[in-house]
Amino acid sequence: MRTKTIVIGLSIALVIFLGWRLIRPMNVFVLNEQAAWPVDTSEVPAVLGGLSAKECAACHQDFYNEWQTTIHSQAWTDPYFQTDWQFDSKQHVCRACHTPLDRQQPHTVLGYRDKDKWDPILEDNPNFDMSLQHEGVTCAACHYRDGKIVGVYGNTNAPHPVKKLDDPNQVCVRCHVAGGDKWDNFVRFPPCGTVAEVDATSDIQISEIDSNILDSLKPLLLDKDISKQNEIGKRVVTRGSTGETVVPDTASLGCVQCHMPVVKRALVKDGKIRKTRHHYWRGGHDPQMVKKSLSIKFYERVSSKNNKRIFSLTLANTGAGHYAPTGTPDRYFLVTLRILDKDKNVITEDANKLIRTVMWRPFIIDLKDTRLPRWQPRTYNIEVPTNSHAYSVEAVISYHLLDENRRKRINYNNKSPIFYDVFQQEIELN
Ligand code: HEC
Ligand code: HEC
Ligand code: HEC
Ligand code: HEC
Ligand code: HEC
Repeated sequence: MRTKTIVIGLSIALVIFLGWRLIRPMNVFVLNEQAAWPVDTSEVPAVLGGLSAKECAACHQDFYNEWQTTIHSQAWTDPYFQTDWQFDSKQHVCRACHTPLDRQQPHTVLGYRDKDKWDPILEDNPNFDMSLQHEGVTCAACHYRDGKIVGVYGNTNAPHPVKKLDDPNQVCVRCHVAGGDKWDNFVRFPPCGTVAEVDATSDIQISEIDSNILDSLKPLLLDKDISKQNEIGKRVVTRGSTGETVVPDTASLGCVQCHMPVVKRALVKDGKIRKTRHHYWRGGHDPQMVKKSLSIKFYERVSSKNNKRIFSLTLANTGAGHYAPTGTPDRYFLVTLRILDKDKNVITEDANKLIRTVMWRPFIIDLKDTRLPRWQPRTYNIEVPTNSHAYSVEAVISYHLLDENRRKRINYNNKSPIFYDVFQQEIELN
């Protein structure tokens, strides 16, 4: 009798627990000690005024013009972000990376109620600056630390105090990985965890790639010297004492090398010409950049089958240091192979999604990852029966910022397309 009561009691507890896990607010991000606190801007030197990008523009116009075209400058106003944020009940945690400066946030974080630093104790922020909030990842989000402007020279004759960055990639880590172990979290990479992905494939050497693909290698973004590509991710990411992701040596991450190409110019009007870097950070919103990640070949195979011809599409991520696609788990490639008749009607179609699939409830678990790790070629085949009325075969690769179903679910009324083609080729059979 007692055992029976205990079993029933435990079963009810389990059902309640799982039920709660299914409906509770989603806590996806685990912030490390640094990211959990907004950047303290209490010691801004007068020359930087209110820290707005426009103030930097007074002297660094070119940098401002470039930044304005980027998604960093829209990290708060971006309609997709805004819709998603509202759908996610306006969680505080999103501000940590989309508006990281204290004055970009309407509330001051006094502390956290929980160990995961997800449930903050907030107070109204008298220094809140809404126009700065609208600048998202603004200049100061990357450049302002402890009353100084960080840069790679450290010895320029600037009117503001400067501090030397040992390595420019240090800047990216704060937001492009939200590492952290949590008991209910079993993912290989955190969401938006690009930094961790660079590490995951660092042991694969470029020389291992199929020669088919090597022929068509894109001029590599990082360096024309292939051996340098092998340096990416060499000095690995580790886990800190509280489970957070730590990058002891950021130099081999390559983020800046690929996303901020070198350009010789002056920092200020009539200033000294220096080696600088473009401030464009192109990614998933730019078809040209996405194309750069892939080497692709569509060709006919020697077929051993009598009444069939076989066509293959081989593709490899040779241009990105992380997975392709990377970033939010919403992104994916769709690889479609089709057999067409003379009027371009589809006779057969085979579509494959290259996507990371995460189960969010009741526990956070990576179910599947069909994206392209760096330098691992993948081949898709389509067989054409020789006696059919097939006229041609076609391969199309499209890039998707998010899935149509999700767009509908969060009610995001996009003004710009949420997907586009990055490759299309048709081969006629005769
Ligand atoms: C009043 C003009 C002025 C303003 C305002 C200004 N800067 Fe500068 N900054 C300079 C000058 C001058 C240099 C040095 C140029 C040189 O020596 O080539 C400089 C240097 C820099 C450097 C290189 C530092 C190094 O030594 O590595 C960075 C980065 C920088 N500024 C960022 C910013 C940012 C971000 C803002 C706005 C928050 C800003 N600056 C506002 C004039 C200004
Ligand atoms: C303060 C946080 C923060 C820092 C620091 C930061 N990023 Fe970002 N980055 C973001 C956010 C947030 C987005 C997404 C904005 C959006 O789409 O709403 C983003 C987007 C991007 C994109 C995607 C562009 C696209 O078209 O989708 C690239 C590439 C990128 N960042 C590269 C970098 C690099 C390289 C560095 C280091 C130099 C860096 N970021 C530093 C927060 C940051
Ligand atoms: C996402 C992070 C990020 C943002 C936002 C950002 N920068 Fe930078 N900036 C960097 C990095 C990283 C470097 C160092 C590049 C290098 O290695 O030379 C840099 C370098 C500079 C330099 C020195 C020249 C150079 O290229 O090294 C100036 C000046 C500068 N930034 C100004 C600005 C201004 C002005 C803004 C806003 C309009 C801005 N930055 C926004 C990351 C950022
Ligand atoms: C060898 C070059 C290379 C290196 C190194 C590299 N990237 Fe990329 N990155 C690319 C290319 C090419 C793309 C476009 C294809 C894609 O989205 O995967 C891209 C895309 C991105 C995106 C866009 C994701 C989206 O959803 O829009 C982000 C964010 C990003 N990179 C951040 C980083 C960060 C952070 C690092 C360093 C940890 C880094 N990248 C290192 C080449 C590189
Ligand atoms: C640890 C830092 C971090 C936190 C916290 C964070 N983000 Fe982001 N977010 C990023 C980065 C980095 C990117 C760029 C990666 C990419 O482009 O795929 C991004 C991109 C996005 C995008 C894609 C925007 C676009 O234009 O395609 C959306 C939507 C988004 N975040 C929503 C959220 C929401 C909602 C929250 C809070 C629940 C949140 N983010 C919390 C770092 C963060």
